[in-house]
Formats: sequence, C-alpha cells, structure tokens
Amino acid sequence: QQIQRIVVHSYHLKRISTPWLAPQGRLENGKLSTAKLRMPSQSLFNKSIALLFSKRSTRTRVSAETAATLLGGQAIFLGKDDIQIGVNESVRDSARVIGGMTQGIFARVGAHDEIEELARYSPVPVLNALSSLWHPTQVLADLLTLQERAQLFGSNPKQREDREPKKLQHLEELPPLTIAYVGDCANVLNDMLVTYPRLGHKMRVGAPENAKYRPPTAVWDRVVELGCDKRILMTADPQEAVHGADVVVTDTWISMGQEAEKAERLKDFQGYQVTEKLCKEGGANPNWKFMHCLPRKQEEVDDEVFYGPRSLVFSESDNRKWTIMAVFDLLFGKWDLTGLPGKG
Ligand code: CP
Ligand code: NVA
Repeated sequence: QQIQRIVVHSYHLKRISTPWLAPQGRLENGKLSTAKLRMPSQSLFNKSIALLFSKRSTRTRVSAETAATLLGGQAIFLGKDDIQIGVNESVRDSARVIGGMTQGIFARVGAHDEIEELARYSPVPVLNALSSLWHPTQVLADLLTLQERAQLFGSNPKQREDREPKKLQHLEELPPLTIAYVGDCANVLNDMLVTYPRLGHKMRVGAPENAKYRPPTAVWDRVVELGCDKRILMTADPQEAVHGADVVVTDTWISMGQEAEKAERLKDFQGYQVTEKLCKEGGANPNWKFMHCLPRKQEEVDDEVFYGPRSLVFSESDNRKWTIMAVFDLLFGKWDLTGLPGKG
C-alpha cells in the first residue's frame, strides 16, 4: 500500500508537470499550450536538499536536481572530492553538520553501513540514492513504468495492444506478473526481491552459483522476513529463469567499484546475456518486455533487445525523476513518513 501510494503520487506529479500528459494540456494553433499546467506542490520552497554522492550518477543526480527545482527548492550537489566527509571529518560529524543546514539528505554511498550511519546521526531524513546493498528509488521508477503499461499485460488479448502511456488518465492495476532477472544479483535486484513479491508478482532469478553473484545474507534475511522468498525462484540456468516471463530485467555485470574484477566477471557471466534467442529458447511470454536501470553495457543485453520494441528502458529513466520527486515531496517537503518504507 505504501509503495503503491508513492507510485500513484509520482504519476500525479508527472501528469500535472508535463504538458502532453496534463488533463488541461491542449493544442492551440498546432502548439501545445502550457498555460493551464498546474504547479506541483511547492513543498520544498525555501528548503535545501543535500545530494551527498560518493559515486558517479547521471539519472539519480539529474532527477534529484530537477525534481527539487520543480518542488520550489534547491538541491546542493556534494561530490566526494567537494567536502570533508571520510577524509578530514567522520561520517557522524558530517551527518550532524549537513543535516543541521538542510532539510534532507539524499546519499549515494559505497558500503551500506555508511548510509545507516548517516541516518543514525542526521537530524533530517536520509534517503538512499544507491548503496552496496540497495537502490530503492530505482524500483519505484520501474513500478511506475510497468503500471503505466498495465494493459500490455492484461489477460484479454485486445488489452495487449500497445498503448502510449500519455493517453492514460489514471494508473491501472497491474495483473500478477512473472518478472525474470538475469545477471548479477546486485543492489538493483535486491530492492526488486523485497518489493515485487509483496505486490503479488513472481520473480525468477538466473545468476551463477558463486555466492558473490547471489543476494548477500543481509538481503536474503530481509526477503525471508517479508515472506517474499515464497514467490522467488533462484536458478543458475538463464533459460529456466526467463521461462514464462512477462518482463525480463538485467543490470551491469560490473557495478561501480568492481572494475578490478572485470575480466573474471565477463568470464563468469558468459551465457547470461539477454537476447531474443535466450528468451525464445527459455520460453518467455512471447510479449515479454525488457527493463534495465542503466547505465548499460553491451555484454549484459544486446542491441537488438536494448533498442528494440520490447525495451522500456528510456521510460524507466524518465520515470526516475517523477518517483524521486514524489519521495522528496513526501519525505523532505511534507515530512510525511507514513507512506515511506523504513530507514535505509
Ligand atoms: N539507474 C541509475 O541509478 O543511474 P545513475 O547511476 O546514472 O544515477
Ligand atoms: N548495480 C549498479 C547500478 C547502477 C545504477 C551499480 O551499483 O553500479
């Protein structure tokens, strides 16, 4: 329910802020009129959000900066070479100092412990912009992207006709899906494992047997605690993973910080590239769609799939903005913590 509330709020913000989606948007002399666009809530007016990023980012950073502006506030980007944290000052002291001057911290860190420590000592809410274990704002964008296309997955073949999300007036409920993930079990997958099963979807994960390519104990404990494991199949066989899949997802095989393992990883993930052939031979739903958080490398998915008609990847990246905006509005603007998952 809480996750759903954020997704619906994201869609509302997207519609009122985008001329061709806004209920009031209309063509005048062949041009799109923006005159009647509604102003989103200015909940960040006179407020500043610290973007504490110790790793690179394109989508998350641009989404956060543009979302803060639309909400009437300011985002301050603090890269790892800009501030004292971790070099001249402890995480604890930095959390207290930065939190004392801003209304929220959106942090991209290395080890997940760092974000837990920031949250422990910050006087303002801390939101995870990616850590070694989790990437919670990514799965929100993925959910919005799927929900905008709920008709694609309906049981009625007529409903399967591709419909542009811009014609949607309201988000429709997603039927239960089979979501396959093929590749490295990293942060992006981990949030899917604790999210999709709770919303009624099944997950099939194909990853090499080696424990370092499978979810770590801290993640799996949470999966079990939430009862999500009952709807998850783990296999080393990528064909078995995509069997019956409505959606096939992957991520890079070499996450940020793992560059030294590149040669080993490229070897270990041989056979896990997402292709038409893999999904056909594995028996995916003929109508399967493809998702990827980006940035993408060719080894995990070929060009035919990535740039082909099944691919939802650029809608996913666009939706990072609206979902981050919704969370900023609720968490940093309104301090409405009821609709949000716990710390971290
Ligand atoms: N998907 C994602 O988080 O992209 P960035 O690393 O570019 O922010
Ligand atoms: N697993 C990737 C996700 C990037 C958005 C990484 O951590 O680099």
